[in-house]
Amino acid sequence: MDFKTLSETRYSVRAYSGEPVTEDQLQYILECARLAPSAVNLQPWKFYVMTSQTDRELLQQCYKRDWLSQAPLYILLTVQHDVEWVRSDGKRHGDIDIAIAAEHICLAAAELGLGSCWVCNFNAQLCHELLKLPETEEPVVLIPIGKAAADLKPSEKKRKDMAEIVVRR
Ligand SMILES: Cc1cc2nc3c(=O)[nH]c(=O)nc-3n(C[C@H](O)[C@H](O)[C@H](O)COP(=O)(O)O)c2cc1C
Repeated sequence: MDFKTLSETRYSVRAYSGEPVTEDQLQYILECARLAPSAVNLQPWKFYVMTSQTDRELLQQCYKRDWLSQAPLYILLTVQHDVEWVRSDGKRHGDIDIAIAAEHICLAAAELGLGSCWVCNFNAQLCHELLKLPETEEPVVLIPIGKAAADLKPSEKKRKDMAEIVVRR
């Protein structure tokens, strides 16, 4: 699949069949995340793979949506604040790095015919507590992954027109 087709095909999946993600599929997705670029190549991330009922339930407490529980697997991306690059004016770049890795995950999943969804609107503080994460780590993006429910229709791609977003000077 070429990149434009992949970009057109990928959408946020909020209904899952529950079918497990295979180990090969997971390894492929994680390898694509591992290869993501980051500022100064510091790779200030951890990818927590959550498949057990116990861990999935902990995360469901942090983002209470019925559809989330349908996904067989979650990847939680955390930023390592003691590793991320900080520009000389103080701007921290860890969240940007995490965003790139997160989209690598979603695109890799889409290429394999799997659905996924970025989730940032979760209770990150509760997540930090429940998972007993190190002080220096902050949960940033939670990504459920799995086969989309059979009756799910891809949502319409609503995007701004090129003329509105591209500035040529
Ligand atoms: C940074 C970011 C945070 C997001 N957080 C959430 C979220 O908490 N819950 C959710 O259901 N979708 C979330 N989304 C998904 C967006 O709503 C979705 O990507 C957008 O509406 C475009 O739709 P599409 O992905 O189907 O093309 C998030 C996406 C991004 C990039």
